[in-house]
Amino acid sequence: MFYSFLFLITLNIATISSYETKPNWSGTFNVTPLCNRDVCCCLSGEVNVKEIAYFFMTLSGKLVGQCNGLSTFFLPAIKPSTFSTKLPIVGVMNLSEDSTLVTVESPLGTHCNGRAVRKS
Ligand SMILES: *[C@@H]1O[C@H](CO)[C@@H](O)[C@H](O)[C@H]1NC(C)=O
Ligand SMILES: *[C@@H]1O[C@H](CO)[C@@H](O)[C@H](O)[C@H]1NC(C)=O
Repeated sequence: MFYSFLFLITLNIATISSYETKPNWSGTFNVTPLCNRDVCCCLSGEVNVKEIAYFFMTLSGKLVGQCNGLSTFFLPAIKPSTFSTKLPIVGVMNLSEDSTLVTVESPLGTHCNGRAVRKS
């Protein structure tokens, strides 16, 4: 009885710590063609996320579609300590638990959502 109780506690701790995996936002991601270029300004090609200090990161990449003449973007942002963050203009950006997939929920609607898969 006592031993199985201890076992349960250990199991719980193991489960909790696996939920606390730290996100790794930095790297290069390949954008998948999800966003509709006819109506949105979309990310294209590769997106680079670089950590520039403990609390900051930069996002950079190419743009295609309805971007008012813009063809590249560079966005400094606070480095999130979680797997979800909200960026101005871009929208809600989520990282998968294994840090390999980025999804972007655009405030402009689902046709402007984005998705990128980790390359490195
Ligand atoms: C995050 O991923 C990048 C690219 O794969 C890697 O170079 C870096 O070491 C990783 N950082 C951590 C803290 O795991
Ligand atoms: C992004 O993460 C937030 C917070 O965990 C969640 O509420 C939201 O549904 C997620 N969005 C997507 C598209 O996964």
